[in-house]
Amino acid sequence: MYNLFNKAAKAYDQSGVEFFRPIGRRLVEFSGIPAGASVLDVGAGRGAALFPAAAAVGASGEVIGIDISEEMVKYAQADAAEFGLTQVGLRVMNGQRPEFEAARFDAVIGSCSLFIWVKGPDDVRPYFELLRPGGRFATAAPSFFSTARGKWALFPEIVNELLMPYMLQSLKQSGAYDSQFANAGANWLITAESIEKTLADAGFVDIEVVEEELPVVVKSGEQWVEFTYTTGMRGMWERIEENERRQVIAEVSRRLDTLRDESGVITVPVPIVYMRASAPKA
Ligand SMILES: C[S@@+](CC[C@H](N)C(=O)[O-])C[C@H]1O[C@@H](n2cnc3c(N)ncnc32)[C@H](O)[C@@H]1O
Repeated sequence: MYNLFNKAAKAYDQSGVEFFRPIGRRLVEFSGIPAGASVLDVGAGRGAALFPAAAAVGASGEVIGIDISEEMVKYAQADAAEFGLTQVGLRVMNGQRPEFEAARFDAVIGSCSLFIWVKGPDDVRPYFELLRPGGRFATAAPSFFSTARGKWALFPEIVNELLMPYMLQSLKQSGAYDSQFANAGANWLITAESIEKTLADAGFVDIEVVEEELPVVVKSGEQWVEFTYTTGMRGMWERIEENERRQVIAEVSRRLDTLRDESGVITVPVPIVYMRASAPKA
């Protein structure tokens, strides 16, 4: 996982296809972070949620981004300096064991990150502990509501059956996602109710879960494949033998190209789930 994101860091979210940034913006809007707040962004990556959070808290607030990948932190740090954002700090840290004192933050967020390692209430509790009473927790993840029906949320319908076996194989080989993804029944993200229960069991109140479709727009099937290489899906491609991979990519591109509209672009709706909750007021 660590190697995957370190390798992806430079090109991450820079493919020209809007994906992580609109999700990060929406998450910050949904989280309701107020001006002046102190925010922790876990698995901050290149800053898709970090920079909108910095705008929301303003110069009097503070946003600390942590990521396990030194490369991600390096690039996000450079961007923060370039944008002149003095309220932003970045650190290399394992988000599973954040090293901050209890009740340190007004809000803890994580866009398309926490779902990678959170498997149940025990994994969410560290974020609960970091919040002051009444503090806000908000996170976004690809929606898994459709996995029970054998559909991978990030794949366009037209290539789902083709790519699903490769994805499952890759997840098993990497061991990183194990039952979380491959076994839909064990996944806490499988329904709004299982998400609510997980957050409630971690101690949160006022839990809200919404699923929204993000229209991902690409110019060609080839561009969609390039885009997947700049995300966590890269791991799937890398585990396919080279010749076979070339064939699969050609077939994926061909199928997606049939979806072009009159203006020549392909729009793939990707379901994203946003959740927010609060620590009880003292
Ligand atoms: C899919 S990216 C999302 C990044 C960013 N939040 C965004 O929305 O663009 C997931 C991020 O989580 C980071 N990550 C993975 N495992 C982590 C861990 N245990 N602790 C902290 N960060 C981690 C990766 O390095 C990567 O930057």
